[in-house]
Amino acid sequence: MTIKIGMVGTGGFSQKHADILMKMDQVRLVAVCGTSEEKAKRFAEQYDGMRGYSDFHAMLDAEKLDGVYLCVPPMAHGEMELTLVKHRIPFFVEKPLGVTTAAPEKVVEALEKAPLVTAVGYHFRYLESIQYLKRLLKDHTVGLVTGRWMGSMPEVSWWRNQALSGGQLNEQATHIVDLLRYLLGESEEVHAYEAQRVMNKRKEDVTVADVGTLSIRFKSGVIANITNTCILPEGLDEIGFTMYTDSAVIEWTPESLTIKTGKTEKVMVDTQDPYYQEDEAFIQSIKSGSNEHILSTYQNAYNTQLMTDAARVSVEKHSPINLND
Ligand SMILES: NC(=O)c1ccc[n+]([C@@H]2O[C@H](COP(=O)([O-])OP(=O)(O)OC[C@H]3O[C@@H](n4cnc5c(N)ncnc54)[C@H](O)[C@@H]3O)[C@@H](O)[C@H]2O)c1
Repeated sequence: MTIKIGMVGTGGFSQKHADILMKMDQVRLVAVCGTSEEKAKRFAEQYDGMRGYSDFHAMLDAEKLDGVYLCVPPMAHGEMELTLVKHRIPFFVEKPLGVTTAAPEKVVEALEKAPLVTAVGYHFRYLESIQYLKRLLKDHTVGLVTGRWMGSMPEVSWWRNQALSGGQLNEQATHIVDLLRYLLGESEEVHAYEAQRVMNKRKEDVTVADVGTLSIRFKSGVIANITNTCILPEGLDEIGFTMYTDSAVIEWTPESLTIKTGKTEKVMVDTQDPYYQEDEAFIQSIKSGSNEHILSTYQNAYNTQLMTDAARVSVEKHSPINLND
């Protein structure tokens, strides 16, 4: 069975997924849709048999697609997902689901009425270290978590515009929010602070905050804090989280997991490519017609979007936000 894939977006992450997919037997990249025909054709030329389009509907009308990848910035989400639900075409969405919950909420409603195979690019869930940690935490009582996404500001112009990207928590630290949800369950309250300290003085069009901190109270009673900044010079990135439990300090980064008990220190280094794993899970799920291989479905990722959006509201209202309200 050959799975025919269409992509939307001609940027870095369409390229990332396309390069992985072309290595898979039984997958063919047949179409790409970009913001201009020229960009789409230039992207398509890299892959044998791929055709370029500048109109999403024209692509769907002309091609018989088994699955679509949506690798577009946060503000471009919503209408395409609703169209795919209507056409019954499984889709993979790069995180985050949107700028706020407004567009994703409608997609979740549509999926409730008409379930479909969907996947969201919260790729860290597929790491061996995260799978191992998920099993390990059954025997540990986590007290407190500190998480972080510290780095520099991406160059693309949409990223520094709050209305287009939703800011760094929505765009990047969302990965840490999602991992904590995956490992610790749902939360009931968030309280966030954000500020502009540096980047808006360097570039006129910066409307996102460049430092932020989010406190979370989970339903289990665990409390956590996730801190982010995009003011650092290149090369000083710090991404990950530390869990403080009754028997160990557990440190996770995208590269490794370290478990310190005071007497022993165990280090686990990830060797598999989580992007390959998530793409393979999506292709397998298209074939089987069920979400069973997928660790982050659209509906599940929506709960992460609810949390990051509640953090945005918390910043605006200068107040904690109860997620049960
Ligand atoms: N999971 C990860 O590790 C990871 C890493 C990087 C990026 N991403 C996500 O992938 C998404 C895209 O990021 P990127 O780095 O590829 O950005 P990019 O700016 O390199 O590319 C975005 C592309 O989308 C196109 N686009 C915008 N609106 C469109 C529309 N309505 N129709 C068709 N094309 C449209 C742009 O022209 C551009 O080609 C972002 O949401 C980002 O957060 C995820």
